Amino acid sequence: MPATQPVDVGIESVRPIRSFHARRSRIRPSAAAALERLWPTWGVDIDENFDFRQTFPPSDPVVLEIGCGMGDATVAMAAADPLTTILAVDVHTPGLGVLLRDVDRRGLKNVRVAECDAVTLLSEHVPPGALRGIRIYFPDPWPKQRQHKRRLIRPEFVGLATSRLVSGGTLHCATDWRNYADQMLEVLESEPGLRNNYDEFAPRPDWRPVTRFERKGLSADHEIKDLIFTKLDVT
Ligand SMILES: C[S@@+](CC[C@H](N)C(=O)[O-])C[C@H]1O[C@@H](n2cnc3c(N)ncnc32)[C@H](O)[C@@H]1O
Repeated sequence: MPATQPVDVGIESVRPIRSFHARRSRIRPSAAAALERLWPTWGVDIDENFDFRQTFPPSDPVVLEIGCGMGDATVAMAAADPLTTILAVDVHTPGLGVLLRDVDRRGLKNVRVAECDAVTLLSEHVPPGALRGIRIYFPDPWPKQRQHKRRLIRPEFVGLATSRLVSGGTLHCATDWRNYADQMLEVLESEPGLRNNYDEFAPRPDWRPVTRFERKGLSADHEIKDLIFTKLDVT
């Protein structure tokens, strides 16, 4: 069960650069109650006892959604594709409470939820070739030049993410920040383990739900860019 208050992040200079800041935001009573009640069923504690293969046997196709926020897209995708398990992760606890509440309301059985840094999850807990897909929708844009180092889609992260995909698995990103979209395209196209499914940006897939942050981008007249890449066969 995650703590409902962010922990002290410590001194930044002695830690790797992270793609998020700890936030202290209020959790609504319904989300707090959902966390308490539903975490034992759908929550995954990422600690030294977590064994990916025990929780997700190889027969269970798992898609990792990084930065699920309030989980509105997670719930819609899970409802549309009940045979795929979505492991939804975020570092923001109140959003996970909302997601668990909605999973329960809709009677979904194919969503698991973890509160953790996706970089740690991938590097320390997910075995190579274990994921059928990774979805990263509207990652924090870190728009100022001096913040770009915090962006998730950087070469080291993409190399790590690619290694965790099964051959033929998909890495799907979307953003409403043009400058980040260009960076994503450059970084993803430079990863030797990936092939772009399209010439450049992907047409928006109609199965991808509009997310909460996407809606904000659209109302600010931002253009939405999707990028869909496939993990190449490693033989
Ligand atoms: C801009 S929000 C987008 C949320 C949602 N995907 C949407 O489109 O509405 C980005 C989310 O990514 C989460 N995040 C950032 N870095 C992360 C990381 N390293 N691991 C897990 N979640 C992360 C943030 O907490 C935040 O909820």
